[in-house]
Amino acid sequence: MFRHELESLGLPQGTKLGIHGGTFGYRISPIILSFLILITLPRSVLGGFLSQRPDLLASGPVLQNFANSTAPLQCLQVSPPILSPSNPSCQQTLMVHTFAWSYGKPFVGDYTPPDCDFNRITINFTVTSSGRQFDRLALMFLDDTEVWRTSTAEPTQNGIVWTYTKDMSGYLTLFKDPHKLIFDLGNLVDDTYTGSWNTTMTATFFTADDVDPADVIMPVSARKSAENSPSAFALPEAKALNSLVLPRNARKAVFSIAACGQAAEEFWWSNVLWSDTQTFGNDTTLYGHSPWREVELYIDGTLAGVSWPFPVIFTGGIVPGFWRPVVGIDAFDLREDEIDISPFLPILSDGQEHTFEIRVAGIDNDGSGRGFLTNTVGSNWVVTGKLFLWLDSEDSITSGTRPTIDSPTPSLKLHSSVSRDANSTAKSLEYSVSVSRYLEIKSTIRTSTGSRSVSWYQNLTYSNDGLFTNKGNDQITHQSTSGIDIASDSGYSKQYVYPLYVYSTYSELAGGNFTIDGKLSRGKDLQRIGGLAFPSELATFGRPIDSRFAGTSSSDLQNGTASYLGVPALKKSFGSGKTEQRYWLYGVSDVDDIEQGKSGIAELYRRHVLAANDSLLLDEETNSGSGETKVQGTMAPRNGDRPIFATDSIRSLLGRGPA
Ligand SMILES: *[C@@H]1O[C@H](CO)[C@@H](O)[C@H](O)[C@H]1NC(C)=O
Ligand SMILES: *[C@@H]1O[C@H](CO)[C@@H](O)[C@H](O)[C@H]1NC(C)=O
Ligand SMILES: *[C@@H]1O[C@H](CO)[C@@H](O)[C@H](O)[C@H]1NC(C)=O
Ligand SMILES: *[C@@H]1O[C@H](CO)[C@@H](O)[C@H](O)[C@H]1NC(C)=O
Ligand SMILES: *[C@@H]1O[C@H](CO)[C@@H](O)[C@H](O)[C@H]1NC(C)=O
Ligand SMILES: *[C@@H]1O[C@H](CO)[C@@H](O)[C@H](O)[C@H]1NC(C)=O
Ligand SMILES: *[C@@H]1O[C@H](CO)[C@@H](O)[C@H](O)[C@H]1NC(C)=O
Ligand SMILES: *[C@@H]1O[C@H](CO)[C@@H](O)[C@H](O)[C@H]1NC(C)=O
Ligand SMILES: *[C@@H]1O[C@H](CO)[C@@H](O)[C@H](O)[C@H]1NC(C)=O
Repeated sequence: MFRHELESLGLPQGTKLGIHGGTFGYRISPIILSFLILITLPRSVLGGFLSQRPDLLASGPVLQNFANSTAPLQCLQVSPPILSPSNPSCQQTLMVHTFAWSYGKPFVGDYTPPDCDFNRITINFTVTSSGRQFDRLALMFLDDTEVWRTSTAEPTQNGIVWTYTKDMSGYLTLFKDPHKLIFDLGNLVDDTYTGSWNTTMTATFFTADDVDPADVIMPVSARKSAENSPSAFALPEAKALNSLVLPRNARKAVFSIAACGQAAEEFWWSNVLWSDTQTFGNDTTLYGHSPWREVELYIDGTLAGVSWPFPVIFTGGIVPGFWRPVVGIDAFDLREDEIDISPFLPILSDGQEHTFEIRVAGIDNDGSGRGFLTNTVGSNWVVTGKLFLWLDSEDSITSGTRPTIDSPTPSLKLHSSVSRDANSTAKSLEYSVSVSRYLEIKSTIRTSTGSRSVSWYQNLTYSNDGLFTNKGNDQITHQSTSGIDIASDSGYSKQYVYPLYVYSTYSELAGGNFTIDGKLSRGKDLQRIGGLAFPSELATFGRPIDSRFAGTSSSDLQNGTASYLGVPALKKSFGSGKTEQRYWLYGVSDVDDIEQGKSGIAELYRRHVLAANDSLLLDEETNSGSGETKVQGTMAPRNGDRPIFATDSIRSLLGRGPA
């Protein structure tokens, strides 16, 4: 079956896959294992193979030329299309609102379910802005439950526009009832930062294949909708804990976590060990708690699962020139990791209160190689959680065995060394942090359909190698986060790899001017079989392919170079940059098929974009579902000048340096 696959992909016969069968280390059947090996293909082989395609830039037809256009610049996040019918059951406008001076002033509206049949919902969020403005974070709530987290692109004088569409079908149960809709997008407008956000959100309701949405969704949040306020917790100042009483008849339970670092924690992946924060003196104090973060779920004080966050980079991050008009991976849609907590159902179904707490941990050290997980990190992390429940028949009560929990302390390896000049001034700081952890939680649960064993397994590894030189002005980060999550009961597995390389350097020039130059390369590779709370891309992709495949495999890569010049005296800053992105989405077939020799993966969607200096130079999109390939781009930069960005301090762009 491998040979067949490799030939159909055009790989030479005898190509060594270099995939290690033992990598997953989980006691699973050979069939599952061979399946997992199979689905590793796109990451390790296809990615490399397909990226050797000839550069299309030279040959692609130029369909549009924006060079002298005054139309707003179209910003975008590369993401696969979602199912959205041409004749929807109905549509509704959820929000039309301008966010100008909006800190502490969220949009508050009333959501009323439409009078039509639907089991699917998509939202279309369209934003225009012009002037100068920072990137801003936005959270959308239905009452106390966060349903979406996004952030903004940075505007230009002529204006920008973007649309992001998102499948919300996993929240069907919420959309069937009236709620207060609270959309929080804090912004400040003054003489310098003139950009406000004109937003429109519409919802489309329709009927398609069922995505098995949860019956009940309960928030773990600050619960402030009664005061017309958003319900996020800001850690570490707050304690992200709620006591919940669950219905007694849940047969499946999944917890999802929304979490991202802001302020001193926005660039958590570039932070250093506590012992190294003063290496370059008080003026360049580095942020601490290590470059590793773990978002943890505790149920009644017991660790129930973890999320090792994807390093989201917002549109003002490092060098803003990387991110216009193509924003960073997930910047318009900050994804939530899921934890199957079904093994806790025998305890949680007792009709009593149970605590659910989200914590964020880093690592502190004693300066001689020993480290420990912290209960606190810098300020701050914006977090909320949700419990998704699927119910058994009304009169049944779920019971079973207490979960057995195997969650050894993570293994940590820390190293750092400083080299110094003769006068003891630090020349360079070199450090590395590696962490691995696994956990497995098992129980037997009894529902109206009988007993079954359920388990949640996670096995994660992380490494970060960093180097500071030039008085702390230059930094190189090599980070990799990878893991596998398996929920035995749901036939769910997720494998992920998040590589990140960032080089950045800043120079302070005479008169207060400064420059930042950066280079980066990052990715998000995911293989997901089955689904937990959120419908998989199979279900949300633009055609009925969900019956043919068991899961998806995707690879998302961004790389580029960019520069920034800050001129504080003129309250101006200029940038340039070039960023390339390649995204592939495959359907991967099912275990049964593999047994019958029908195994395979098939491309569903592919996109390749190249952007520079506020222009899209190339946009090649292939939707294998519709058989369509579109190529567009403009050869000429949008305007002759260097793009202008919001004026930011070195510290807020990079997470280090003078404020
Ligand atoms: C976790 O994965 C590693 C390889 O990444 C493997 O060596 C190890 O055995 C696994 N641990 C468990 C407990 O499954
Ligand atoms: C854009 O405008 C400049 C100056 O007016 C002109 O020289 C150039 O040909 C124009 N480019 C396009 C593609 O129209
Ligand atoms: C989203 O809404 C905007 C206007 O609000 C509209 O122009 C655009 O076509 C819509 N896009 C999609 C994909 O529905
Ligand atoms: C935003 O809306 C305001 C008020 O309707 C309008 O004056 C302004 O031109 C809009 N800005 C953009 C960038 O669309
Ligand atoms: C750094 O700050 C600390 C406390 O503010 C002070 O004691 C120390 O002397 C300072 N070090 C240098 C090199 O300025
Ligand atoms: C220490 O020496 C380096 C290089 O020799 C020099 O650049 C630096 O200014 C010196 N620092 C102090 C505090 O004398
Ligand atoms: C700062 O940069 C601006 C823009 O390039 C330039 O006009 C100005 O002269 C610079 N200021 C100094 C003090 O070098
Ligand atoms: C991205 O990486 C590829 C492969 O290394 C390279 O060919 C390409 O030039 C890079 N693109 C940019 C914009 O740096
Ligand atoms: C982008 O702008 C910079 C600075 O003006 C320039 O050096 C670079 O060649 C431009 N890149 C492209 C692709 O036009």
